[in-house]
Amino acid sequence: MGGQLSEILTPYRGQRGALIPVLQKVQGELGYLPEEAMSEIAYFLGLPRSEIYGVASFYAQFRFERQGEHTVRVCQGTACYVQGGKRILEAVEDELHLAPGKTITDDYKFSVEKVACFGSCALAPVMVMDKTVYGKMTPAKARQILSQY
Ligand code: FES
Repeated sequence: MGGQLSEILTPYRGQRGALIPVLQKVQGELGYLPEEAMSEIAYFLGLPRSEIYGVASFYAQFRFERQGEHTVRVCQGTACYVQGGKRILEAVEDELHLAPGKTITDDYKFSVEKVACFGSCALAPVMVMDKTVYGKMTPAKARQILSQY
């Protein structure tokens, strides 16, 4: 076996202790950790896949799904929820034509995530576009912000 990652992985062959830097490199290359990549890592390091998943899912930095070019995070924490956070999320999903259960647009332009609290509750409801925080959101404002990207 020698897939597209063999260039990255070959120097680490058999080095079980290098799992985290290897995961970082692979994610740096692919943007996320797809299943095939996990199998290749398992093969090169000589570790069971279950162990690799266990370690990778422990760290928030690792992602198992491809991300959109832009990430829209909509807060569903208590303060935001009572101020209409759910309606903001619905407006975002509708504006991006996201099918139920999907978190990424078909063109991979946007990923949508629900977040428990951004720690900016005074601005509720909150939406974060990449790194920009937008507070006091309304569904109309959410649609308008999305249309700028
Ligand atoms: S609950 Fe939304 S920022 Fe805290």
